[in-house]
Amino acid sequence: MCVRIHASSLNFHDYMVVNGSIKTADGRIPMSDGAGVVEAVGKGVSEFTVGDRVVSTFFPGWLEGQPRVDNFRTTPGDGVDGYAREQVLAPPQCFTRAPDGYSHQQAATLTTAGLTAWRALVVNGQVRAGETVLTLGTGGVSVFALQFAKAMGAVVIATSSSDQKIERLRELGADHTINYKSDPDWGKRVLELTDGAGADHVIEVGGPGTLPQSIQAVRIGGHIAMIGGLTGASGEVPIANLKAKQARLQGLIVGSRADQHDMVRALEVTGIQPVIDRCFAFDEIAEAFRYQEAGRHFGKICLQF
Ligand SMILES: NC(=O)c1ccc[n+]([C@@H]2O[C@H](COP(=O)([O-])OP(=O)(O)OC[C@H]3O[C@@H](n4cnc5c(N)ncnc54)[C@H](OP(=O)(O)O)[C@@H]3O)[C@@H](O)[C@H]2O)c1
Repeated sequence: MCVRIHASSLNFHDYMVVNGSIKTADGRIPMSDGAGVVEAVGKGVSEFTVGDRVVSTFFPGWLEGQPRVDNFRTTPGDGVDGYAREQVLAPPQCFTRAPDGYSHQQAATLTTAGLTAWRALVVNGQVRAGETVLTLGTGGVSVFALQFAKAMGAVVIATSSSDQKIERLRELGADHTINYKSDPDWGKRVLELTDGAGADHVIEVGGPGTLPQSIQAVRIGGHIAMIGGLTGASGEVPIANLKAKQARLQGLIVGSRADQHDMVRALEVTGIQPVIDRCFAFDEIAEAFRYQEAGRHFGKICLQF
């Protein structure tokens, strides 16, 4: 089918592609996230009709069930061309419908950041009302995780390096907040805030620089969703502490198309609105990445075209 792309959103992964940290083929079109309108469908396409509003999938070949992909060879904006373009011809499984009432920019936040947070908490974490979720920082994944956790009835402890951003975390419903710069022993602070119990789920986006504190913060038998590497790709893991905590440390990369369908339905029912910090025009893409690099954003940065 043919889709007119109207928006994309920036992820740390896209940043690593455009700055060359991730090597891709020469001339690769960047951006994993794309949202727009179906302009034409081929014979045999029954799921979509002309005019449908759609959002791209991260793994077009992983439709449902257990994870089957451990690389980015089929991921738009990495192994194949992405959505920094106005029109794309692609099979229907490269898209799902977008949530009703969402703008294209809002829909474009879902492919990577939204689905990663959803999978971490709901699919893998099986979060339940009353549990405690710890989110790290105020990037795209973490802010979505805060929103999903609150919608599922969880208590949220959220961290940030900025007191201004902490104000915004509170406005979004964070029950407790910690400035991880002024309180580097934030794992201990999480234990204090939970009467010694620890967090049931940790949205671990930091990697080696944050994992030791996350292990301290998690409850015995809890779940650490190993998502990101904002502080690097490898490092020391305090194995003895992890073992003693008997925690589940589960790596994940985004999710399946079926997970995305479930998330879209949940977004419609809960009314969650993605938090968009700023939108840039298509030809301001370099400026958008410089803005991301500066780290002043809260939630998502989008492109509109
Ligand atoms: N596994 C997956 O499927 C998957 C999917 C999406 C993203 N990721 C990874 O997850 C990470 C976050 O991605 P994103 O797109 O949400 O990034 P992002 O929007 O660029 O997030 C940046 C924010 O992270 C916070 N941060 C930076 N260093 C931190 C630290 N040491 N401790 C705590 N927070 C820190 C900062 O928040 P404050 O300014 O508030 O301090 C910063 O603003 C990246 O490593 C990305 O590659 C993985």
